[in-house]
Amino acid sequence: MMYDIHNEARSIKGSFTHTFTHSSGAEFLMKHEAGVVQVALDIIKKMEVDLVVELGTLQGGFTKLVEDALPNVEIHTFDHENMTQGVREFFGPKVTFHVENIIFNTANVAGLLERPERKLLYCDNGCKRREVAMYSQFLNIGDYIGVHDWGNEIVWNDVKDHIGTWDRFMWCEVEEVGQTTRFWRKNA
Ligand SMILES: C[S@@+](CC[C@H](N)C(=O)[O-])C[C@H]1O[C@@H](n2cnc3c(N)ncnc32)[C@H](O)[C@@H]1O
Repeated sequence: MMYDIHNEARSIKGSFTHTFTHSSGAEFLMKHEAGVVQVALDIIKKMEVDLVVELGTLQGGFTKLVEDALPNVEIHTFDHENMTQGVREFFGPKVTFHVENIIFNTANVAGLLERPERKLLYCDNGCKRREVAMYSQFLNIGDYIGVHDWGNEIVWNDVKDHIGTWDRFMWCEVEEVGQTTRFWRKNA
């Protein structure tokens, strides 16, 4: 495997920042791997979740792709900077933008995670390690967690005490294409 789960080197570097124009006409600056981000989205589709909570909106590029992938699913995205004013008109009613600091204000994220529907918590914020440590505990059995920048901003030592026993979900698919998103499913 390219990025073994126990790899601690934080050696996976890369600038994932790029712009793209969505078919709706909206333009986004996005921090995900151009081209291969679709692999992560295809995995998200397989989860059959009813709720997605994204930490780290930036301009909403990844949020838009998740909305495309799961058009009937409720999506909540959080960022302490309000950088989506120019694109919000391109989103449907299932997407809610929250402008708040999720490190200092935990109630809204935790409240969503405690809901009974099957859900995905996607951590792509300023400090993924803290997000996993703070919020994974609120998820229910069968829920999923995803992190971006695996092998760099977040590694095994950061997650092992929180989600180390959870099932890894479709790691081979993302490893094969060099995409740095990783997913786990809470099993007990
Ligand atoms: C890597 S970017 C998100 C990229 C986005 N998911 C994408 O794919 O385009 C990280 C975002 O986290 C936000 N952020 C950093 N610290 C935060 C905090 N404590 N609370 C809320 N948002 C925060 C930043 O403003 C930034 O927009």
